[in-house]
Amino acid sequence: MSENHTAPQQHAQPATGASRVPRFPDGPAADPAGSHHERRIRSFRPRRGRVTAGQGEALRRLWPRWGFDIDGLHRIDLGELFGDTELPVVLEIGFGMGEATAQMAAADPGTGILAADVHTPGQGTLLALAESEGLSNVRVANGDAIILLREMLAPASLSGLRVYFPDPWPKKRHHKRRLIQPEFLALAATRLRPGALLHCATDWEPYAEQMLEVLTASPYFENTQPDGGYAPRPDFRPLTRFEGQGIDKGHPVHDLLFRRAHGVEVTESIGAHATRAGGNPTPPAAAHTTPAGRTDVEAGRTAAETERVAPDVRRPAAGSAATGREARRTERLHPDAQDHPARP
Ligand SMILES: C[S@@+](CC[C@H](N)C(=O)[O-])C[C@H]1O[C@@H](n2cnc3c(N)ncnc32)[C@H](O)[C@@H]1O
Repeated sequence: MSENHTAPQQHAQPATGASRVPRFPDGPAADPAGSHHERRIRSFRPRRGRVTAGQGEALRRLWPRWGFDIDGLHRIDLGELFGDTELPVVLEIGFGMGEATAQMAAADPGTGILAADVHTPGQGTLLALAESEGLSNVRVANGDAIILLREMLAPASLSGLRVYFPDPWPKKRHHKRRLIQPEFLALAATRLRPGALLHCATDWEPYAEQMLEVLTASPYFENTQPDGGYAPRPDFRPLTRFEGQGIDKGHPVHDLLFRRAHGVEVTESIGAHATRAGGNPTPPAAAHTTPAGRTDVEAGRTAAETERVAPDVRRPAAGSAATGREARRTERLHPDAQDHPARP
């Protein structure tokens, strides 16, 4: 690992206040999509935290080449991003420190890994690893992966999606923050090609059960396991940092391997015009055609309909008191949180 643990630590500064100078002017923005104003319940807390000298150096030097902010303002051409229009691209949401991401990229140079997280130190580590190991197939996205999926990726553009050890949010009142929910799956399905692999793993048993339940119930995904259960740990997934901590605590680890179902056809694309100031962007929409040829109305919703039924993945209605309180509380309590929000 290229991270320098003995070097002086630096704090990544939020770039928002007028008097605050961003620590990395050409690096990851503190709040690229202004998501604090979105008032959507998020699956993460800001984790700018301490940045080592090595991570900072990697961010300054490599970010302009391999990193970008999830600002929700433009559509990404993945062929252009990776410099190869033929490269299949897999999105990894929440890479943490990125060691496992780098290992997977090294083991599979024929796949592009688009790695998204909000964790500034981890972004620095992953960039440094990509350089030291000569990985040309990793790109680092800073910000909320929901916005990346919703507004910046084209329909059916991804060949896979990896969510390894997402924050478990063990408290009941926090369950709404968990990433793997029906609304998230409906959004992700529109960005995945038919047959694309969705791979989740967790060491938190109740979350594993929830994942299996919502994935099994989703019309957009099919379990690769004939018995409808968890998958054996695939050889290609390395041990992750968070997983190691869970194993030390005696937690059982579960992998879930589902494929995006064929017959979920994207019928409408998100607009490249999507803006964060301009209200709801045109939503991702898909028509799920059952074997009997019935179109699933739920998947072909309009923006307004999607807003009503999928509050976690759509922009919230302006002025929603409850969600506003949530956002303000998160900001107040965790302006610079470094640790995982709730590691059981
Ligand atoms: C518990 S950590 C696991 C990290 C890593 N996968 C591992 O196993 O060591 C979950 C990570 O997901 C990130 N995360 C959660 N929700 C996210 C979102 N909507 N967009 C981007 N990153 C997110 C968090 O910042 C955190 O780094």
